[in-house]
Amino acid sequence: MLTLSRPDLQHTAHFIAGEWRAGADGRLLDVSDPASGALIAQVPDADAGTARAAVDAAHAAFPAWRRTPAKERARILKRWNDLVLANQQDLGRLISREQGKPLAEGIGEVAYAASYIEWFAEEATRANGDLIPAPVPGRRMFAVREPVGVVAAITPWNFPAAMIARKIAPALAAGCTVVCKPAEDTPLTSLALVALAAEAGVPAGVLNIVTASRERTPELVDAWLDDARVRKITFTGSTPVGKHLARRSADTLKKLSLELGGNAPFVVFEDADVEAAVEGLMAAKFRNGGQTCVCPNRVFVHQAVHARFAELLVARVASLRVGAASNEASQIGPMINARAVEKIERHVQDAAARGARVLTGGTRLPALGPNYFAPTVLEDADATMACACEETFGPVVPLTRFTGEAEVVAQANATPFGLAAYFYTQDVRRIWRVADALEVGIVGINEGALAAEAAPFGGVKDSGYGREGSVHGLDDYLHTKYLCQGQLD
Ligand code: SIN
Repeated sequence: MLTLSRPDLQHTAHFIAGEWRAGADGRLLDVSDPASGALIAQVPDADAGTARAAVDAAHAAFPAWRRTPAKERARILKRWNDLVLANQQDLGRLISREQGKPLAEGIGEVAYAASYIEWFAEEATRANGDLIPAPVPGRRMFAVREPVGVVAAITPWNFPAAMIARKIAPALAAGCTVVCKPAEDTPLTSLALVALAAEAGVPAGVLNIVTASRERTPELVDAWLDDARVRKITFTGSTPVGKHLARRSADTLKKLSLELGGNAPFVVFEDADVEAAVEGLMAAKFRNGGQTCVCPNRVFVHQAVHARFAELLVARVASLRVGAASNEASQIGPMINARAVEKIERHVQDAAARGARVLTGGTRLPALGPNYFAPTVLEDADATMACACEETFGPVVPLTRFTGEAEVVAQANATPFGLAAYFYTQDVRRIWRVADALEVGIVGINEGALAAEAAPFGGVKDSGYGREGSVHGLDDYLHTKYLCQGQLD
């Protein structure tokens, strides 16, 4: 375990109905350091019975929580935000240890997570309804917004704090209660955040969390899918799993928010500020070592600026410092696990076999540990390569040349996914033309760093639906009830 200023933040149990509970059958899930594979901790591996117990608690707590005045829910969320920020260093160390992002990024992620909690604390009091002009005399018509009920949040490993905050804060703000299953690779950060939520005053049963292994997750999630008391699923993860959740939610018609895979294009037009485009790509691509669903996966550079762009990019990428997450100098840590590195290696080898040239990187870094991969730039990538069709989720930049705007927009859209896209140009007419034509939920225009609590995050097509963050983020946890009062004459 880690040495933290607050050792009591290291929990290794489920949190249900306000109590830390050991697993029902003694089965445990190992949590390992992605840098070395060394065991960090063991947490319980939940079965279906534990999953149902969490729903029992959330369902029992719902009537009182939804009646709690929004201002009081907001106060509790603000205290949670304050506690998260007060424990930023400890939480950052937990993230960095179990997920592998460099410590400075881990600490930064805590501030990012807190920004969602603060945002939704403020939004809690603004779930306004409508007074609707009645079409006939003697009537008053209203639309009020109500919490959907028990929400199941299934969160990913790449941002173990921020994704918990982005889902749980709006749910609690709306008056919903929550059962959560964090990713099997990164449960410790989530348990610490839930402990701080309880300390902030979130009542027993309102927020419950259960941990489970990859093998047992289907059993646990099935229990939630089959349970009509769970009214909403919010999930960040792969598109196949998102589609499975959508299919399996049909019988109980749960509301869904699905933040799924991406295959983001990054386009550099001939009139772009090339230096700014390189910096934008570095920020977008190498955040969390390329393990974000909005990071550029295909980079299209106009023939006229390709040589200059590639030269500047290779210099920047080759100078990235790869190393242990705990080393303050590291800019890229280990990948999350062996499967992740295998996929990255497969993409690079496939691209090379199909004619791409490796300009820098291209290999694992075994001297550092089993899960490190060198930041890589590939030239002459094309649409037949695995790295253009699948999300690489690692520090690999495949460059593709283009010559025409219509051609590159068609290539950018030639994917089932539609999460994010980026482009660089100084032509204002082109900005609006291209922004309109891109089939995605998020567009970076001369900007690589898009994440913000005030912005709506989510995709179209196979990247899912629903929006997180922003004024729209609360909507996914509310439904609208129409009230019509007659006999008023
Ligand atoms: C994600 O990769 O799912 C989230 C990234 C972000 O918040 O920018």
